Amino acid sequence: MAIDPADRANVILEIDLAGVVANWRLLAARVAPAGCAAVVKADAYGLGAPQVSTCLAAAGCRRFFVATLDEGIALRSAVPASCEIAVLNGPVPGSAEEFVFYQLVPVLNEPGQAADWAKIARRQGRLPAMLHVDTGMARLGLTAREFAGLVDKLSQENATRWCGLISHLACADQPEHPLNDLQRARFTSMHRLFGGLPASLAASSGIFLGPGFHFDFVRPGAALYGINPRPGSPNPMRQVVRLKGRILQVREVERGESVGYGAAHVMDHPGRLATVAVGYADGWLRTLSHRGWGHLDGKRLPLVGRVSMDLVVFDVSAADPSLARPGGFIELMNDDYCVDAAAVDAGTIGYEILTALSRRCHRIYRGVLNQC
Ligand SMILES: Cc1ncc(COP(=O)(O)O)c(C=O)c1O
Repeated sequence: MAIDPADRANVILEIDLAGVVANWRLLAARVAPAGCAAVVKADAYGLGAPQVSTCLAAAGCRRFFVATLDEGIALRSAVPASCEIAVLNGPVPGSAEEFVFYQLVPVLNEPGQAADWAKIARRQGRLPAMLHVDTGMARLGLTAREFAGLVDKLSQENATRWCGLISHLACADQPEHPLNDLQRARFTSMHRLFGGLPASLAASSGIFLGPGFHFDFVRPGAALYGINPRPGSPNPMRQVVRLKGRILQVREVERGESVGYGAAHVMDHPGRLATVAVGYADGWLRTLSHRGWGHLDGKRLPLVGRVSMDLVVFDVSAADPSLARPGGFIELMNDDYCVDAAAVDAGTIGYEILTALSRRCHRIYRGVLNQC
């Protein structure tokens, strides 16, 4: 008989869906009466867009954001037809029919996209769209000049059903940054010129800048998945991921023995090493070489040597040998060594830690879908 995939898995990623829902509810309560959407692009930051979105829709979330058309198509069957799915990158030429067929809302980011969409809407009947304006990020969205030149035409465009005016904050994770207020002021005046449609400026961190940033709805992603929206302050969000890697082998080593590729770590004490089946092909980043930590029974165990494609080595000298044994597990992320802590050690941000976790990690969902 075949072995259960969880029993044969080398890396297990546990996702607490009830925690994601609790995080969404916390944010929704904080911004009410403004609405709270959910950003589930990049497969809900690696955690599983269908699973996450099904729970959030059941909890009352009515607006979802993805990045690409393919993500939107995949999501359409996971959430009720009444839920709006907006595609942040907008339509690429020739993709309009898919948007219509799958009832997806394009975010129009530049004048050409807006003009093309208006043409299609005139042909097809009234089609929904959101408009993205750039208020200080110089990434996506109509510039202030483009917006000023087009706003009258766009607001009189009857064929398009405008369902949102959005912009994105560049420095929301730095509450003192002067660009926050400047972007808000620019957005407010653009919204005045194109009144009547729901406005949205804040993502996770922007929510914590205060009610003046909430407008009609907010668009959190990272905070739903436990990433701290207020770096440097206590994290108000619940941790929703646990990651563990299976121990394949344990060995005794002498002082002076080298470990792994490049012999880049040399033992400064005799001890015990555990080789764990996780590597950069699982998304356990190579920049964690010499710097990451594992946990076993509450003990913090240093990652020694380089992260390789499928394996890493931990110094388990301090761990109980009956637990640090082949077949056992080392915890790679848990409530104490959370996604943000791993990100600091890897020299990156929590977003990259989560989205890097590859398909090879066996995902287990806690917080049964229909109980969320
Ligand atoms: C336009 C836009 N809105 C919202 C989000 C969600 O941001 P966060 O994950 O910081 O909440 C993003 C993320 O990149 C985005 O690009």
